[in-house]
Amino acid sequence: MRLLHLGLRGLTEAFPNAVSVNFDALGSGLIAIIGPNGAGKSTLIGSIFAALFRQLPGQRRPLYDFATHPHPEIDLAFGVNGAYFRSLLKLDPKARQMESYLFNSDGTPLTNGKKEPFQELIRKYVGTPEFFLSSIFSSQKRTGNFLSLDRSERKELFIRELLGLDRLRLIAAAAKERAEEAGDIVTGLDGQCKGLREVVDAPIEVPAQGENQLRDVSSRIERLEVQKVTLQKRLLELQSLDANRKPLLVEIETLKQRLLKADAEIAEMKRQTARDETLLAGKKDLGALAERTNALASRIEGLHRQIRETQNQEASNQETQRTIQELNAELKANSTELDHLRVEREELARVPCLGEGPYASCPKIRRAVEAGPKISDLEDRVTTLSLEVKVQQSSLVQIAAPSSQLTRTLQGCERDRAKIEQERLHYEELRAIEARRDERLKTFDHLSQNRREIAEELAGKESAVSAFADLGARMNAVRRETEDANHELISCRAERDRLIAYRAQIKQRQEQKEAARARLAEIEQELGNAKTELEDSNYLARAFGPDEIQLCEIQAAGPEVSSLVNALLEGCFDNKFEIRFRTQRPKADGRGMVDDFDIEVRNKNLDRTCLVDELSGGQFVLVNEAVNLGIAIYNMRQGEGTCYETLFRDETVGALDSANGKEYVRMLRRAMDLGGFHQVIFICHSPLVWELADNIVSVGGGSVKTETGKLPGE
Ligand SMILES: Nc1ncnc2c1ncn2[C@@H]1O[C@H](COP(=O)(O)OP(=O)(O)O)[C@@H](O)[C@H]1O
Ligand SMILES: [Mg+2]
Repeated sequence: MRLLHLGLRGLTEAFPNAVSVNFDALGSGLIAIIGPNGAGKSTLIGSIFAALFRQLPGQRRPLYDFATHPHPEIDLAFGVNGAYFRSLLKLDPKARQMESYLFNSDGTPLTNGKKEPFQELIRKYVGTPEFFLSSIFSSQKRTGNFLSLDRSERKELFIRELLGLDRLRLIAAAAKERAEEAGDIVTGLDGQCKGLREVVDAPIEVPAQGENQLRDVSSRIERLEVQKVTLQKRLLELQSLDANRKPLLVEIETLKQRLLKADAEIAEMKRQTARDETLLAGKKDLGALAERTNALASRIEGLHRQIRETQNQEASNQETQRTIQELNAELKANSTELDHLRVEREELARVPCLGEGPYASCPKIRRAVEAGPKISDLEDRVTTLSLEVKVQQSSLVQIAAPSSQLTRTLQGCERDRAKIEQERLHYEELRAIEARRDERLKTFDHLSQNRREIAEELAGKESAVSAFADLGARMNAVRRETEDANHELISCRAERDRLIAYRAQIKQRQEQKEAARARLAEIEQELGNAKTELEDSNYLARAFGPDEIQLCEIQAAGPEVSSLVNALLEGCFDNKFEIRFRTQRPKADGRGMVDDFDIEVRNKNLDRTCLVDELSGGQFVLVNEAVNLGIAIYNMRQGEGTCYETLFRDETVGALDSANGKEYVRMLRRAMDLGGFHQVIFICHSPLVWELADNIVSVGGGSVKTETGKLPGE
């Protein structure tokens, strides 16, 4: 990767507004970035990292947390192995979002702003942030520096990124996979071969008797079919006979039904006649009924007349009685008055005055005097009345029987007449029954005659049917024979089918055997190829595996990186340190070596060796920088993957004294030479140091200025 141009806006307080730096225009060489603390030096080169990996180096917080503008942006142009790319990050601090685009040389966007496709392409063209931080990009925080990693991370990074052993691992894995596939194919083909060989080697017994048996069975089938046809003919004949018999049977059945019906009718007729006879048993001769009726009628008539006459007499008698009563009442009253007058007259006869003289005016005497003439009138009247009573009494009629008695007699006669009427009705009924019984007797005769005829007809038909008595048995016998023939035919046919199938099977097996032989030859060929493939793949998997080429690479890389780092360290920092990448160490029992990864540092002045992690802080910083640069150079030399042409160092060695500062610049130049880098961009604070750079980029007050044309040593 070669840095070309950087545009930046609104990131940290150092750059609230847009700034841009054309690094390409500065040409090849050392570029010192200078400026006061907090001016934005780290931000400047950090945003180059951020333009690729969407984060400031060594910062955990997201990029938009550093925003100082509503729409911050990083716009980075860079080259990779001669190709041009442009990365554009657009931040939205309010929404806490970030869009990242990658364009190619003609401005075509290669991504859609989303994180994943962007990261994928950056990884493909630029590499991983880990490798960036452990080699070409040394951040002020040191996070991610090679020696800031732990041992296993160092080893992994060294092997994966630096030696590109991932590629070898991939080849080995692919070869292993291929070997597994080939193994599966070999197993499959082996199995197939085994199966086919079994088929090829299996003996096929051809039974000599098969054809003869087939012939026998076929001729038996023919015979049976002829027999079956004959039987069927016979059955048809019998069936036609049976067809004649059937209507007779039907007729017989009908006649039997009719006979039963006639019997039932006769029985019913008998029963009804018997019932009529029972009813008729009590029949009397009613010859005198008319005379009795007539006599009764004239009697009733006479009674009606007699009653009328008697009632008239009774009325006239009642009238006479009433007159007699009135006469008697008058008679009684006149007699009483006569008696009274006679008493008063007798009393007058007894008094001395005889009613004359002073006492003549006495009412009583006067009345007695007046009674004299009255008494004779009264005596005449009484005599007349008595006579009249006698006359009346003699005029009373003698009634032999009263009308009420006559009415009762009439009622009795009426009852008799109703009884006679009932008797007459009953008699009429019996007469009707008698007629009906006679009718029934006639029907009975008719039915009996009919029954006799049916019975005769039936006897005739039954004797006709008896001629076909054994027809059913004969038909059954023929049917049984047909059935037997059929069974035998079925079993013969099955036998013939079996023999034919067997013959076909034998033929098929022979064909299969032939096909299997041919297929076996093919598969044996394929198997040979697959076995070769398996061996080759196994060989490749082993060769590219961790024990062979990978191991060689690791072992070869150790000395080469060591010598690069030592070349960088030579002459610097009192020429004290010499390092060694150790990729193997002796086994504890002294027999052979085991894989290992460590960096040993020898202090040449003291002739003492320690592990890199045992150095003092200051020494570690120096060695660390040399190791990181060594790794970057080694990577450049490998000439594979991304060619990293720009190195970034952010105050890597802290406050160096002037002598060491100069040596550091020399080391950077040596690194440039050894690695063939295009530019080294480093941040420093000491004028003694920056004066040694080829170009100066000064940062301050929110802007960036470049000073070109400075020559080393000026
Ligand atoms: N992690 C951070 N969070 C917020 N602001 C930061 C952070 N790091 C740096 N800054 C701010 O960004 C500005 C630039 O800092 P920096 O680039 O580190 O300066 P320099 O490297 O020149 O000393 C400063 O104002 C500083 O306060
Ligand atoms: Mg800084």
